[in-house]
Amino acid sequence: MKLILACAALLCVSCAYEFDCPTDVHGDCIERRYAHPDCSYYFRCYDDPSGCIAIVIPCQDDLHFSPKYQECIHPYHANCTDSTTTSTTQFTPPPVEDVSAFSAARSYDWYGGDAIVYFDQVDVNLRECFKNGTTFVPGREGVYFMSFSGGIPSRTPVHIKIRPTNWPNYPSTIYRESTTAEDINMMYRTFLAGMSDTDYLNYKSFEPMESGESLQASFAGFSLTDMFHEVKAFYVAREEPFEFNQRIPMSRIFMDIEDNYNKTGREFIAPETGIYYFFFGAGQQSGKTNRVALQTWDEEFPKTEAELWMNSDSHNGLEMASRSTILRLTAGERAWVTAVEGPVESMVDHCQVYFGGFWYNPAHATTIAFAVHRTSPWQSAMPLDPVEFHEVGVNQGNAFNHAANVVIIPKSGYYYIELSIGSMPHTTLDVEILLNGNPETPENLGERIAHVSVESTNHTGVATSGRGLITHLWQNDILRLRANGLSGIFSDLNKQTTWMGLLLYEDYY
Ligand SMILES: *[C@@H]1O[C@H](CO)[C@@H](O)[C@H](O)[C@H]1NC(C)=O
Ligand SMILES: *[C@@H]1O[C@H](CO)[C@@H](O)[C@H](O)[C@H]1NC(C)=O
Ligand SMILES: *[C@@H]1O[C@H](CO)[C@@H](O)[C@H](O)[C@H]1NC(C)=O
Ligand SMILES: *[C@@H]1O[C@H](CO)[C@@H](O)[C@H](O)[C@H]1NC(C)=O
Repeated sequence: MKLILACAALLCVSCAYEFDCPTDVHGDCIERRYAHPDCSYYFRCYDDPSGCIAIVIPCQDDLHFSPKYQECIHPYHANCTDSTTTSTTQFTPPPVEDVSAFSAARSYDWYGGDAIVYFDQVDVNLRECFKNGTTFVPGREGVYFMSFSGGIPSRTPVHIKIRPTNWPNYPSTIYRESTTAEDINMMYRTFLAGMSDTDYLNYKSFEPMESGESLQASFAGFSLTDMFHEVKAFYVAREEPFEFNQRIPMSRIFMDIEDNYNKTGREFIAPETGIYYFFFGAGQQSGKTNRVALQTWDEEFPKTEAELWMNSDSHNGLEMASRSTILRLTAGERAWVTAVEGPVESMVDHCQVYFGGFWYNPAHATTIAFAVHRTSPWQSAMPLDPVEFHEVGVNQGNAFNHAANVVIIPKSGYYYIELSIGSMPHTTLDVEILLNGNPETPENLGERIAHVSVESTNHTGVATSGRGLITHLWQNDILRLRANGLSGIFSDLNKQTTWMGLLLYEDYY
């Protein structure tokens, strides 16, 4: 009622337009919002005792209504043509065009060889930094975060290489020699690189790669320099195996902006109180298992914040795995990577053992970060939708709704989303990140924005996989995870399974 009064009193110009609200086959009012001839208003239809009636509502702050998104958004994104005037204003895009980020995937298989992989599905490409479907060319000096994945065919080793120009042995490869997987596997890795204004990155896969409808092969990244206020980031790695069950000494410091990694103490010391994204990896020797954890202090005891547990011994050559998490640390708190069990493999060419991270300090967005963990395994013939998370680690901005086990996007913008996930012994892993839709409605489960799929079951123990991506999400979009039937997820109190996200760039309305 208030809206009608406000409309009548203030907006009689736009009230001059009539709108007949549509009804469905049962004659019931379809309560939706509809375009108005003047882009800065919209009609809202609702069921009133007097019938299905429309009221006119103005958009705030020079926004335009978008029927597609059912809300008032930046005129450039709304792309609405005003039919009340004859002017054809061209709206300039919001300043998002000034930051570098991209996210791409490939929808068909790759046959291997020393050539550059082409990505036909480019979802995000800000500043047009991803050129020709093949090459990340930021054209600006800065610190860049990268996430990439590949689908590995049965009985095939893996050698995927994304290396900055002039860095032949940069720790940025996925490398596996084992050929025992009898079906498709999926592997991923993340890394940080300092790049000059002439550097570029390509994705090369020397061995064949599987990528189809599930888009297992992906390549995404963003500029920390463009997105954050002050860049505080580090990236260290090991170039040889390590046999002991203690903190892993990292022999090479590839990046340590502002000196926050203590090589002797083998730990990162948080320079500020805030939210940190961390990633780490470990290699396994043929037939050997290991367990590597990211730890912090809990009073005087080490506490595991994330674990990579590779307890499968069926691999007949080198294996590796990677993962990430997000933590809130107070200034001076420490985080490190420990070999909890078994030897770890690492070599100068691939640096399977590594540790890195950055302070999440967005310059163009509200601070929205979440990291949620499972603390128990799941395995069933029936799907699990949504996948439940038992422990909420970080939930700045309340994006994660614990009661519903979904993420409800608080602000429209570009998000980095990542899933690190453990698989059960002798079992496939089949988990999708779904956007909107409804778990109860098979014909509308939602749009799949990522799929982590390990079809191979020839792993005698727990293994890990995952996927990172950058995507644009609208306020009130809902993300959830669905695990398909006949698959399994491994996680225990050491948190082998984590779902996380960060808002990188918020839409300016
Ligand atoms: C806006 O709409 C026009 C015509 O439908 C289309 O050519 C153009 O690509 C759209 N622009 C955006 C930013 O979506
Ligand atoms: C993109 O393709 C064009 C035409 O083939 C070529 O001239 C250009 O160098 C390519 N750019 C990059 C960054 O590879
Ligand atoms: C680095 O670690 C070593 C060994 O634990 C310690 O002696 C040293 O004080 C640490 N340096 C800093 C700057 O914290
Ligand atoms: C599974 O791996 C084992 C150990 O490497 C190998 O001997 C066996 O042939 C594999 N089984 C299948 C079904 O591929």
